[in-house]
Amino acid sequence: MEKLSISPDWVFSPQPMYIIGTKNEDGTPNFCIITWLGFSFNKGPHLMMTVGGTKLTKTNILRERKFSANMITEDNLWIADYFGNTNGKEGKKNAVPYSFQWGKLVDVPIIDECHWSYECEVTRVIELDGAHLFLAEIKNIQIDKEFESMNMKRIDLTQIRPVIYAPYNYFSIGTKLGEMGEWENHLTDK
Ligand SMILES: Cc1cc2nc3c(=O)[nH]c(=O)nc-3n(C[C@H](O)[C@H](O)[C@H](O)COP(=O)(O)O)c2cc1C
Repeated sequence: MEKLSISPDWVFSPQPMYIIGTKNEDGTPNFCIITWLGFSFNKGPHLMMTVGGTKLTKTNILRERKFSANMITEDNLWIADYFGNTNGKEGKKNAVPYSFQWGKLVDVPIIDECHWSYECEVTRVIELDGAHLFLAEIKNIQIDKEFESMNMKRIDLTQIRPVIYAPYNYFSIGTKLGEMGEWENHLTDK
């Protein structure tokens, strides 16, 4: 295969998206979208999340040291898109209908319309140039009761239907391709 080098500015990492919920100083909730988010493990599961610029979400996390991460799926995408395209410092984000509850273990707002949500407490903050990287321990996971009998060791993504972000576009996932470790069954020149 012939390869081309392109500018690092074109970095592209297809990834799921989360509505990040935080508590405002007046006790109300605020939500935005963050896609720069991954998992890590440090004596327990953690999220690693980068928030750039100045945002109400960042101000709230630096003060409260906690947030929720609510997985964006096909059925709540446009609520999320609204949160990600509006600035919390310009007023309450109430132009679309949604509801929320406060977390069960951590005092963070959880979106009712999301099927999979993490309640997190920040354990480390790394200040970058113009961005902050938050390492946060997952204290609780709330899932839709509909997934009660799902096999948690082999989650069926087609049931959860997460949205995948590629710059400025949203995609759904396709079909299952196979299982881990099946590589021998898929060699073309066997
Ligand atoms: C699809 C999408 C993905 C986004 N991903 C990120 C991200 O990974 N990191 C970030 O700092 N901002 C990201 N944003 C921008 C924030 O969601 C946006 O600035 C939002 O208005 C912040 O809300 P706030 O002011 O209420 O905190 C994203 C926005 C969209 C629409």
